[in-house]
Amino acid sequence: MEITKRPRRLRSDGVRPLVSETSLSPSDLIAPVFVDATVEERVPIESMPGHERVPVEGIGERVREVTETGVEAVMLFGIPEEKDERGSRAWADDGVVQRALRRIDEETDAYAIADLCFCEYTSHGHCGIVEEDAAEDPRQTVDNDATLELIERTALSQAEAGADMIAPSGMMDGMVGVIRDALDRADFTEVPIMSYAVKYESAFYGPFRDAADGAPAFGDRRHYQMDPANRREAIREAKLDVEQGADTLMVKPALPYLDVVRDVREHTDLPVAAYNVSGEYAMLHAASEKGWLDLKAVAGESLLSIKRAGADLILTYFAESVAKRLSAGRQM
Ligand code: PBG
Repeated sequence: MEITKRPRRLRSDGVRPLVSETSLSPSDLIAPVFVDATVEERVPIESMPGHERVPVEGIGERVREVTETGVEAVMLFGIPEEKDERGSRAWADDGVVQRALRRIDEETDAYAIADLCFCEYTSHGHCGIVEEDAAEDPRQTVDNDATLELIERTALSQAEAGADMIAPSGMMDGMVGVIRDALDRADFTEVPIMSYAVKYESAFYGPFRDAADGAPAFGDRRHYQMDPANRREAIREAKLDVEQGADTLMVKPALPYLDVVRDVREHTDLPVAAYNVSGEYAMLHAASEKGWLDLKAVAGESLLSIKRAGADLILTYFAESVAKRLSAGRQM
């Protein structure tokens, strides 16, 4: 047989870049950063090599390290000085995130996205108000509608502190609509919402829960985060958030859910973000420490694959290292 169709013709060094279908740029990336009100110096996060909890006073410097790599946006997570039943430090005017946002605004040019959730702020580690007998009946832990009121307060206080974008991650029904309404009434009409619209109940969040000290003290998050078995439900969640006024939709985690990233891409015309979560980061690091994987190569390939699946933006702990390589002219 004579072979005339030869896809390999387009794989030589000269032509590869011309026919490349997907590209990655530092401006696609968002770097998560952790600000901690209980520390005076940076504290390394063991399960997330290269990442640290940073004191409020040092957050400007930390964020400038990010922007120097070419990454322009950060997602800010706070660890408060104290926790209580309702997570009241989440909406305090002098809360850890509010203080950090003011500093980022004053000291950097970064685009600051505020994560909005209560699991780092509540004594029980759940993402909202828990009902009194929750410990006995963990199936019905978080009171959705009561939590919405706290979400509203927190969004307003984050916007007042200078958040450029609000990112609610608690998976409460109606959270996007409540935030949009509150922001608009307070004249924050220009502050967009990035909804963690499609967030699965995933074991890949383990290292983050150590980092942000937000593991639930009892029960789990199965009745508010999505079942990993479900794909159609992701489209339903995404559409509800579009109706409520979300500006950007996120899928989380990323790599084990690339089919869902593609689905959300095809069913909405909003920008789609994917969160390459702590467990995805930790496993590549662990394997590379053993010498089993080439960290730089697998990190780049992972992010490229997330874009290929349909994500416009990627939240990733690899943001800085990958951006440095991209800025140095490396293709992924
Ligand atoms: C808080 C929140 C979590 C993550 C981001 N925001 C943890 C959780 O839902 O348990 C996980 C991020 C990561 O693993 O990198 N709701």
